[in-house]
Amino acid sequence: MLSNPGITFRLGELRCPPQASFMIVLISGTNRPDSNTRRITGEIAAQYQALHVPHRILDLTELPLEVFAPASYAEKPASFQPFSDAILAAAGLHVVTPEYNGGLPGVLKYFIDLLKFPESFERRPVAFTGLAAGMWGALRPVEQLQAIFGYRNAHLYPERVFLPGIGSALGEDGHLKDAELIARLHKQAAGFTAFVETLKGVSLRA
Ligand SMILES: Cc1cc2nc3c(=O)[nH]c(=O)nc-3n(C[C@H](O)[C@H](O)[C@H](O)COP(=O)(O)O)c2cc1C
Repeated sequence: MLSNPGITFRLGELRCPPQASFMIVLISGTNRPDSNTRRITGEIAAQYQALHVPHRILDLTELPLEVFAPASYAEKPASFQPFSDAILAAAGLHVVTPEYNGGLPGVLKYFIDLLKFPESFERRPVAFTGLAAGMWGALRPVEQLQAIFGYRNAHLYPERVFLPGIGSALGEDGHLKDAELIARLHKQAAGFTAFVETLKGVSLRA
């Protein structure tokens, strides 16, 4: 077992860290400004922090506009490289998705489509958390993502978390009100950490 050097990283930091392969990368799966998805991604990041697991957030609101030019399929803009590198360096990916029109947001699929094939997801551990205004808590987009990541030979962590009625689940301070939901996110983060450690043969925890 290799050990974690104990380096921590600021959330949202896009520089490539020296021991990136010991890190969980959280993907905040929409570019809608002031999204609840970004709030929940922050809640999950706090759980990894509590577990002393190095992590960082890739926030799709930070995608540079030039990435959306049609020419980006053939030639990625240099500004996309930090996003691509972060995925390639991740020990595990934790995808946080809202439900938009019964599915995953178009921007999240577009982001996936721009990443390097096949190495971005091949044998990479991935976990999923969904949130929605409605009662199904983003079950549909999470299952769509499982199909996509399964197609790409990722290792799917089976314990998913669904957060329904997200508008009333978050308090005015932007944090989850229900201790039981927070406990569910903690359990998922802890379980996914162990899953990644087992698959990769490393210790993530400082
Ligand atoms: C374009 C769009 C489509 C949406 N479609 C659905 C939907 O199909 N089902 C649902 O429960 N909520 C739907 N919602 C509401 C979101 O679940 C809600 O905004 C929630 O806060 C998560 O999205 P957010 O991260 O953008 O805030 C939709 C929201 C947007 C912006």
